Amino acid sequence: MSRDRVVVSIGGSILIPDHEDSVFIKELAQMITELNKEVQLVVICGGGKIARYYTNTSAELGASVFEQDLLGIGTTRLNAKLLALALGDISSTEIPLNAADAANMSVPGKVVVMGGTEPGHTTDAVASMVAKEMEADRVVNATSVDAVYTSDPKKDPNAKRLGKISIKELGELVYKDHGAGKSSVFDPLGVQIAENNNIDILVVDGRDLADLRNAILGKDIKGTFVNSH
Ligand code: UTP
Repeated sequence: MSRDRVVVSIGGSILIPDHEDSVFIKELAQMITELNKEVQLVVICGGGKIARYYTNTSAELGASVFEQDLLGIGTTRLNAKLLALALGDISSTEIPLNAADAANMSVPGKVVVMGGTEPGHTTDAVASMVAKEMEADRVVNATSVDAVYTSDPKKDPNAKRLGKISIKELGELVYKDHGAGKSSVFDPLGVQIAENNNIDILVVDGRDLADLRNAILGKDIKGTFVNSH
């Protein structure tokens, strides 16, 4: 039986919690090492606080959005190097610079770890692009919220937690978010690519390693299952 192919988008603030970072990265790497025996994995790392520092500081220095994005991409690749280091031999030695290379490098038993690709989107979109290229079974978004909500639960006491939704519903939610200039639970471009290519998205709290494990294995999760079929 062939292994499921899974692309994980891990937020920078999850990968680098800013407190005993190496402890969390080690635990995550251990879990990935186990799961690597069961599924074929590509992990896309976000930039988190470090990206924000570089994009904001460069903006203050007059950088264009394109230039800010390039610095952001640099930080995602640095974070990817940290995870690759923790994974040791099971991670690919090179960090691919685009989705096609990532898909080509991906083989069972080796974890491809990477960051962003080019300006204009986030690493969530990269996850969908790689998933499309490698015909992945699902994308897992290991993020800082525990599920998709009808609105921002930090601001709206009536926000409802969503257990299972369609990719169309996720599209409506992220376009609404995007219009307000907020960062959404998944990059709208990534949602569009997933919708066009029938890729399911599982949104889980990346700090909850048990839920992240279940999502990667395609089991029931506490987070949100976004059905694209
Ligand atoms: P992230 O993917 O971490 O974006 O990339 P984000 O939305 O700011 O992070 P989260 O998901 O809310 O934690 C960091 C920055 O790097 C640039 C963008 O500027 C992005 O904001 N980037 C990243 C790109 O331009 N292209 C990429 O492919 C990836």
